[in-house]
Amino acid sequence: PDLSKIINLYDFEAVARTTMDPNGFAYYSSGTEDEITLRENHNAFKRVYFNPRVLVDVTDVDQTTTMLGSPAATPLYISATAMGKIGHEDGELALARAAGTTGIIQMVPNLGLFGFDEIVDAAQPDQPLWFQLYVNRNKEIVKRIVRAAETRGVKALFVTVDAPHVGKREKDMRSKFLAGRSDSDDNGNHGDGDKKTSALIDTALTWKDVAWFRSITSMKIVLKGIQTVQDAVLAVQHHADGIVISNHGGRQLETVRAPIEVLADVNAYFKQHPEILAGKQFEMFIDGGVRRGSDVLKAICLGARGVGLGRALLYAMAGYGQEGVEKAVAILKDEIVMCMRLLGVTSLNQLDESYVDLAALKGG
Ligand code: FNR
Repeated sequence: PDLSKIINLYDFEAVARTTMDPNGFAYYSSGTEDEITLRENHNAFKRVYFNPRVLVDVTDVDQTTTMLGSPAATPLYISATAMGKIGHEDGELALARAAGTTGIIQMVPNLGLFGFDEIVDAAQPDQPLWFQLYVNRNKEIVKRIVRAAETRGVKALFVTVDAPHVGKREKDMRSKFLAGRSDSDDNGNHGDGDKKTSALIDTALTWKDVAWFRSITSMKIVLKGIQTVQDAVLAVQHHADGIVISNHGGRQLETVRAPIEVLADVNAYFKQHPEILAGKQFEMFIDGGVRRGSDVLKAICLGARGVGLGRALLYAMAGYGQEGVEKAVAILKDEIVMCMRLLGVTSLNQLDESYVDLAALKGG
């Protein structure tokens, strides 16, 4: 359908489902095993209810923010997803260009199908970029990749910490089996996925490596894939600049909780123990299941600085390339303005936990 007929982010998914190569769609849409966490990522947002305030002058609404020191037109970013070309020939380049025109930040994937330099070249000269890293066993390779990112002006390094073993994504396995293709995964491995992944990803990565990253780069360091209060606290204690509370879009450990629910716990814990964050610049992000401006704002209410989108933007890209991603961001920006006005706020820093009711979140 014509792009003008698309009115929300679910519409892009419906288009991608019918127009994408079925194997490509299976790769994008798959979650682990029974896909309980994949569904829960969406459902948990719907169990958070708003407490709107009225009779506030909401004529001028400002949704701009900064994330890790970089300006952003709205508190969302494009999360790293491997193999963007599966959905569209322009892949990561389309995402970089759309991020530039819409003023949002792109987290460039370690395993994009375009080269890192090509992606950076597709971005505007002053466009802030982040880089997602899978930590290779070979620390010399890691150093080289990290230095290359720093040299090209990348602002922050997102170290993926939730993938010492690749989740069992059965839709993906079946589609490849039926197509007579070999296994592959988020890590860009072809052939025997598990074996190759353990060869690539350092399964011995630990908390002490955060200091090692600090020693090799001056970029901000963010841990992507934190899923508990305990690890959020450890991230602060190990001097990370931030965390992404994420379950990798339901593609790694099955039956973990939705990021919005974990965020609510982490936020409450940090509020009860203000000494943990005292004097620190520590930013929290979440990703997983975001389809609505209201989802984004719920996370902001619960202490997130920004929210990442994976599949929603991949589907927009698959159907319509750069323009589709631009339209998806425009839809979200419109939803965010509407939602802020109806909540009775004019800037993001006015939002806090008093604007949400969490009773149903835990009950679900
Ligand atoms: C991902 N994700 C991911 N994460 C990462 O750190 N490195 C990677 O290479 C990939 N690759 C990847 C491929 C595909 C097809 C998907 C769907 C996801 C996870 C991604 O960054 C993010 O955490 C989730 O996509 C967020 O969930 P939603 O927005 O897809 O629901």
